Amino acid sequence: MDNKGKAVLSYGDGKTLEMPVYGGTIGPDVIDIRALYGKTGMFTYDPGFLSTASCASKITYIDGDAGVLLYRGYPIEQLATHCDFLEVCYLLLNGELPNAEQKKSFDWTVARHTMVHEQLARLFQGFRRDSHPMAVMVGVVGALSAFYHDSLDIANPSHREISAFRLIAKLPTIVAMAYKYSIGQPFMYPKNNLDYSSNFMRMMFGVPAEEYEVNPVLVRALDRILILHADHEQNASTSTVRLAGSSGANPFACIASGIACLWGPAHGGANEAALQMLLDLQKEGGVEKVSEFVKKVKDKNSGVKLMGFGHRVYKNYDPRAKLMQETCREVLDELGLHNDPLFKLAMALEKVALEDEYFVSRKLYPNVDFYSGIVQRALGIPVSMFTCIFSLARTVGWIAQWNEMISDPEQKIGRPRQLYNGAVKRDVPPMATRG
Ligand code: SDX
Repeated sequence: MDNKGKAVLSYGDGKTLEMPVYGGTIGPDVIDIRALYGKTGMFTYDPGFLSTASCASKITYIDGDAGVLLYRGYPIEQLATHCDFLEVCYLLLNGELPNAEQKKSFDWTVARHTMVHEQLARLFQGFRRDSHPMAVMVGVVGALSAFYHDSLDIANPSHREISAFRLIAKLPTIVAMAYKYSIGQPFMYPKNNLDYSSNFMRMMFGVPAEEYEVNPVLVRALDRILILHADHEQNASTSTVRLAGSSGANPFACIASGIACLWGPAHGGANEAALQMLLDLQKEGGVEKVSEFVKKVKDKNSGVKLMGFGHRVYKNYDPRAKLMQETCREVLDELGLHNDPLFKLAMALEKVALEDEYFVSRKLYPNVDFYSGIVQRALGIPVSMFTCIFSLARTVGWIAQWNEMISDPEQKIGRPRQLYNGAVKRDVPPMATRG
């Protein structure tokens, strides 16, 4: 961090406090307020952390106004075009893209951790078949910590490394098992002669009764979806993983906490909600009903949001949404669905919204979730599984951020404070006198 001078706070009766200002390589400077409470007896107040940097990080950079997303300095558009998902995993974890030898060894190691313990497979029996797959994911991923007592010492870099490989390798297997369990089909074991995304598609859609034929266009589309969702700075679920990890919790428990947070419809659950919104609109009349629907969204009392639109950081088009729309077109063309009514409806809805003052004035643009549901549905992935795919992809980002936090010398347990506006001290009245 570079010293960029001081910020001076004036407060109380003419008191002042100087605080250091630091700059990073790109992006906003920060004011170091760590001494604030000790020096002034006051806290900062920032519900939702709109103006709070929780850490220093080298992993992902977002410029919300310019619609820029970099993983370790590389633009997402280039990574999604020139790399595969495991290459991006290597980059996020190690800070550099792998050379051919490093890529080969990384892929080999991931492939050899794709199976899960047979006892873990029995865990699924405890769930109803119609459980939401995200509920299953939270439970089963958290349960992984019960199987690896030999490598839960987070201070040990080799334990952290093997846990990273286990999580990246096993998430596809667990997601596919959650899907197979929900439809009553047998689990498919991974086949290590397939690449990562082909292996996942076979575990999802293959059956023991016949050979599964990989479609390279669909597999490439899925691989790109994983790249687009791999990491995203200090979003809600990543901050959850960092906070859980700051207590020293093991990596499996931390990733399970990230999955739980990602499930929310305001976050990773938005792709499921966005597709449901399009399906409902389709049922009510499709493109003819777009203007009426947008009117409802603009009416605060309706409680209706345009799911897949808006973002805390992007006040411009989410670069991932553009790439997702492109991938959507490729998949629909490959499947002969270029007239897919849902895709046409999404584009009509986007057009109306982008020309409407309500959205323009609030800088609400499509985010990564707006098109991802349509392309996942075209790939045969059921709506209820969308956020499971998101958690599969984001696991590498969560691990990279968790690793960075554990190795950060400035790291302390996360423990925010509050502005208390509850009851002042009072005595407990006898039961007989209570109103
Ligand atoms: C993800 O953080 C990340 O990086 C997350 C993510 C990642 O990769 O990790 O990018 C993934 O979570 C993407 C976001 C997916 N969520 C949705 O698509 C759900 C719909 N979007 C909204 O819920 C909302 O836009 C958020 C939650 C994404 C952002 O909320 P903010 O930053 O707290 O903004 P806000 O709710 O204060 O909205 C500002 C204004 C409000 O109106 P006013 O009070 O000013 O009148 O915009 C309105 C909001 O009501 N608004 C919307 C809207 N989003 C915001 N109005 C209608 N439809 C929407 N989608």
